[in-house]
Amino acid sequence: LGNGLALTPPMGWNDWNAFGCSVSEQLVEQTADKIVSSGLRSAGYQYVNIDDCWMAGSRSATGDLVPDPVKFPHGIKGVADYVHARGLKLGIYESAGTMTCAGYPGSLGHEQQDANSFAAWGVDYLKYDNCNNLGIPARQRYQAMGNALARTGRPIVYSLCDWGQENVASWGGSVSNLWRTTGDIDATYGRMLSIFHQNVGLADAASPGAWNDPDMLEVGNGMTATEDRSEFSLWAEMASPLIAGTDLRHASVTTLATYGNKEVIAIDQDRLGRQGRPVSMTGGLDVLAKPLADHSVAVALFNENAAPAKISTIASALGLPAANGYTVRDVWAHTTTATAGAVQAFVPGHGTVLYRVAATSMPGRYPPHVMLTTTAPA
Ligand code: GLA
Repeated sequence: LGNGLALTPPMGWNDWNAFGCSVSEQLVEQTADKIVSSGLRSAGYQYVNIDDCWMAGSRSATGDLVPDPVKFPHGIKGVADYVHARGLKLGIYESAGTMTCAGYPGSLGHEQQDANSFAAWGVDYLKYDNCNNLGIPARQRYQAMGNALARTGRPIVYSLCDWGQENVASWGGSVSNLWRTTGDIDATYGRMLSIFHQNVGLADAASPGAWNDPDMLEVGNGMTATEDRSEFSLWAEMASPLIAGTDLRHASVTTLATYGNKEVIAIDQDRLGRQGRPVSMTGGLDVLAKPLADHSVAVALFNENAAPAKISTIASALGLPAANGYTVRDVWAHTTTATAGAVQAFVPGHGTVLYRVAATSMPGRYPPHVMLTTTAPA
């Protein structure tokens, strides 16, 4: 969407994956504090997003949305002021239907009044869901809120949540800044893998200001550390929004290090804004390539299977120019090696090795291949 927002994929946090309906002012504000104190704000995390269940059960006498007075005693405006004072932005949730998915008042038919409320409260991001939609075509319902948001004059990132229905990737970019491409994620490897498969072929739809959204991250919510790093790597490779979905206040050092890996974030946030594409996906051994603004290429080697495996490709298959050699930066190991052209690794089961590969014109002898490994070959 040409509203000047989300020129790189949005980064932030959302309460839904970890807390469901148990959202509150205290949770949102404590999380904002943790985003600052943990260094995640400096790493690029910006939006602190409230999901479903923030409202009272019905509208006011004047038809306005009302925050739940127990969960949000200072209203949404109070929370917005709190997060803004910490250099962060506030997101909120509604549905393009008569009710939200959890049964709170929806915005269908109330688009302008509700958009005006969001703008008056200082909201910076709207996730707009799809429940209870009366069968009205999605594009019509989503465009109505998009128009209403634009008329407020406030910059509000617009995030669609129609679960990939009605071919949203083909029109989402003209209506919104990002659109969900799948049903809901959960904290299992199988579900993460299925969502990856649904999102990985949609690279044509992504560009600055317009992103495929394979749903919020489950890093820290129950997958193994290897699987968590795979999710984070693959989401970055696919130029996806990086919306943390765990309890950051009590997150482990490992979880915070995964969310905070600046080299991986740089791949996601690259200003060229290209989503990585499959180079090969054979037998559960996947190679993806994402061109970057400095003419290097981010390469994900993802082993979908349980057993460790070698995954190999070559520089020319990745879209890199012919060159004397290439540098291969492992953005998880933080090591750099050189290669004459082969790009490969032994990848643990369910793991992803993520490289940043660049051509070099430096004369010299380059080894015939690079072989980096995080586990010994089986
Ligand atoms: C839908 C969305 C989820 C979440 C819930 C809230 O399922 O896809 O991301 O917002 O609704 O009820």
